[in-house]
Amino acid sequence: MAGFAGDPAGFVAYAFPWGEPGPLADRSGPDGWQQDLLEEVRDGLKTPGEAIRHAVASGHGVGKSALVAWLTLWAMATHADTRGIVTANTESQLRTKTWPELSKWSRMCICRHWFKLTATALHAVQPGHERTWRIDAVSWSEKTTEAFAGLHNAGKRILVVFDEASALPDAVWETMEGALTDEGTEILWFAFGNPTRNSGRFRECFGRFRHRWAARQVDSRTVAITNKEQIASWVADYGEDSDFVRVRVKGEFPRAGTLPGLGDAERGGHHAGGRARGGSRDRAQAGRGVRGRGRGRRRRGGPAASAGRAGGGGELRRLARWPEGRGRRGREGEEQAGRDVGPDA
Ligand SMILES: Nc1ncnc2c1ncn2[C@@H]1O[C@H](COP(=O)(O)OP(=O)(O)OP(=O)(O)O)[C@@H](O)[C@H]1O
Ligand SMILES: [Mg+2]
Repeated sequence: MAGFAGDPAGFVAYAFPWGEPGPLADRSGPDGWQQDLLEEVRDGLKTPGEAIRHAVASGHGVGKSALVAWLTLWAMATHADTRGIVTANTESQLRTKTWPELSKWSRMCICRHWFKLTATALHAVQPGHERTWRIDAVSWSEKTTEAFAGLHNAGKRILVVFDEASALPDAVWETMEGALTDEGTEILWFAFGNPTRNSGRFRECFGRFRHRWAARQVDSRTVAITNKEQIASWVADYGEDSDFVRVRVKGEFPRAGTLPGLGDAERGGHHAGGRARGGSRDRAQAGRGVRGRGRGRRRRGGPAASAGRAGGGGELRRLARWPEGRGRRGREGEEQAGRDVGPDA
């Protein structure tokens, strides 16, 4: 696995059972845009010292949260004592969408037995590393941005993921910016989301801060796994150039300030099979027969004995302090050793 330390695309091709009997039987690998991003991360890792920052604004269902899961598992599996955080616009998004996606992919991952996934963290099972080799799911609060301020891992690797990043307040971005200062450290920062707001730091990744972010926009219609029937009904209902279609389909920022979030029923129709606006069918049915890029089939055989390319100990500061009033619950969740989380756990 250490061989994939600089190659997340290779890791994703190897670590999941693409094309094998099971949930990925009819999938051959990442979609085109996911593969491109993974390869750009690989190329970025060849220039040590520069933080890697990727922002993706897209319509719905293009595979952003899946990519969060792959990047998280790659970061953990290929570098000892990786630390990081995953957060999202709302605690509900984090707990019911982003984290379950990690659960789904970690169950399929060839090195799943190296890690324990709890309700609030993915951490190494290797004795003595539970606290130093981990990614925490951290919900933000504007009053407690210090939850993000203690992120240090000098000489090793730090992963930061913002899922549904458009609605994250600037204060969270700014605190994170200030925290990512360790020298000689691989720093990877990903911000993904539907572009629901035409202001704020996510928008600026595509504008004022474009020089610092590799920023891409993905139209749901260009991605194999999306529900084309539902998308067509949205376009028919709202119009090609409506803010709804800009944000939900094209991955373009709205003309008006903020587009309200999709209701649960609409999102449910999109992801979980409920009926959506316009009466679209479940994407799980409509989106079968996915084309992949056919990248490297998974090689069989156990992972290398050691995952780490960075050895050594070193005093590591506690990464994520939980917002007041939630710390205890968070820790308790974590102590439920080995309990898998997610909708189909
Ligand atoms: N390359 C892939 N191969 C197989 N399944 C995939 C792939 N990419 C994503 N998926 C699956 O497709 C579904 C939708 O993907 P995901 O939830 O990651 O999209 P999203 O862009 O985060 O959607 P939303 O905009 O609604 O948040 C998930 O079940 C995910 O596991
Ligand atoms: Mg998502």
